[in-house]
Amino acid sequence: MSAMEKRWGVVKEEAASVEEDVTPSEEQDVPVAPQGPGSGIVARKTTRREIVKYAAWGGIGFTALNSVPVTLKFISPDPDWPAPPGQVKPGPVRIASVKELIPGSFTLYKFNFGKMTLVGGLWYFDEDVEHQRRGATQAAGKDISGGQNENLNVPGGMVSFCLLCTHLGCIPKNWDSSTKILTCPCHNGLYDIRNGAAVVGGPPPAAIPEIRLERRGDDIWAVDWKDVDYVKTLDVYRNKGVV
Ligand code: FES
Repeated sequence: MSAMEKRWGVVKEEAASVEEDVTPSEEQDVPVAPQGPGSGIVARKTTRREIVKYAAWGGIGFTALNSVPVTLKFISPDPDWPAPPGQVKPGPVRIASVKELIPGSFTLYKFNFGKMTLVGGLWYFDEDVEHQRRGATQAAGKDISGGQNENLNVPGGMVSFCLLCTHLGCIPKNWDSSTKILTCPCHNGLYDIRNGAAVVGGPPPAAIPEIRLERRGDDIWAVDWKDVDYVKTLDVYRNKGVV
């Protein structure tokens, strides 16, 4: 798998709208089957206006039925949880060679700091970024930027966070490289990655926790939570047994 394939980006879908040209017109009679005396059928002519009305109601019903899966997807936790197939043994994990990482890249990796395999995201910006402060709790965790960079021998624009949404535990994987905002697809939680993953929209109660990085030889490694005490305060992480 190439480095590019490891990167997930935002897929923008454009919805095409099709307008039907319905020209208002005077009511016109529509031919009906011939009715004869004693047939038992009382003939009633259907007007064009009625046909348009029935078609409109049919269209509304069809649209409602089609929207059910979308609605269910919107409210349900991401089925990717807890992680894509394949487990990782506990401990530091190599993410990639520095040669594979270029400014502007977003790389996914799996890690396990003791209890279960999770998904991490590694960003490499072409300028320094804000890191999370130590000592925060979920209650104060929407914006905990302004902390020290505790990564070791890693470029200042490199930062990593755990991709487990602090709202209901989906995987926030939609990355928009133009706005630099990470979106959780379940309920539109928004994280500002250059600013300590501060929550800038949606229901997440706290920032996703930062992961400490180290350069070892030519490789970048994820070595541990930056602040495991912060992780322990996050309800979703506790409830899922992450810590
Ligand atoms: S799980 Fe609800 S916004 Fe992420």
